[in-house]
Amino acid sequence: MFIKVIIVLASVAIAILAFYLHQYQAAIMVDIAAGLPFASSLIQTIIHSRSEVTPSKANEVNDELITSEQLKRYGSSKTKGKLYLSILGQVFDVTKGKMHYGVGGGYSFFTGRDASRAFVTGDFTETGLSDDVLNLSPQELRALKKWHNFYEKEYKFVGKLIGRFYNNQGHKTPYLIKVEKIIQEAENTERESEAEKLKYPPCNTEWSASKGSRVWCSNKSGGISRDWIGVPRKLFLVGSPTPRCVCVRHPNESHSEESLLNDPRLEEYPGCHEDAISCAVKT
Ligand code: HEM
Repeated sequence: MFIKVIIVLASVAIAILAFYLHQYQAAIMVDIAAGLPFASSLIQTIIHSRSEVTPSKANEVNDELITSEQLKRYGSSKTKGKLYLSILGQVFDVTKGKMHYGVGGGYSFFTGRDASRAFVTGDFTETGLSDDVLNLSPQELRALKKWHNFYEKEYKFVGKLIGRFYNNQGHKTPYLIKVEKIIQEAENTERESEAEKLKYPPCNTEWSASKGSRVWCSNKSGGISRDWIGVPRKLFLVGSPTPRCVCVRHPNESHSEESLLNDPRLEEYPGCHEDAISCAVKT
């Protein structure tokens, strides 16, 4: 336990250090963080959380069309002027971020091409810097879309890259339509699971050698602050082999006539009173 705490603290310290130092040398910090998953995910969350969902600006057909040859000229190794990169076939002017994208910057390899795939795999080798994204998972594609949203928000849209995502008329290719469909479905699933989490917040759990496991509800369990506590129940979800412990609003805490406790996916903990807010879990 003590060692775990030390590792976590060390990760946080390195992540914070990386956050400041990285402004000068991102690639080195990416390498360091690769060995420290906790630091890596923390830093990525801090930095990339700016990329929240915004509507696409480039859905109309008449936006400027750019060929891959033209785009190459805006790669950091080719130009001292403007720097462009493409993500999901949309080209952005990233010149103002030249500390990251210019020669010697930690992310210069993104310029002059569409390397969409590498935004989520972190594989910055020549093979990894690819625009082939269809075999990424729906969650990875969603993460890629967030990167795209980040560029829409932070940088100027320049045009559409003719290639995998847009044809020479500026229309979406069947490939892009497929990618967008998967992203849309992943977003719907995420929205549904967020809504489900508000309805059935996760319960608190603890385990000790002497007492075994206990699950209980409180008005902040599962990170969901609310004005009710609820009672613990097992929630069985399709596709999930084990039930999860959730807190269900008790009819006493609700103004509604209809009780959520009647949801057929819910089950009481054996040996626990139906109104109890805390249950010992028998294994
Ligand atoms: C999949 C892996 C990663 C990708 C694709 C990625 C990509 C990027 C990109 C494109 C930028 C420039 C953003 C901009 O235009 O402002 C950036 C900035 C940055 N990244 Fe990463 N990154 C990754 C992993 C990491 C990791 C593991 C660290 C941790 C050390 C890290 C630390 C940073 C820092 C500190 C900045 C500069 C933030 C700023 O100055 O605003 N990145 N990253």
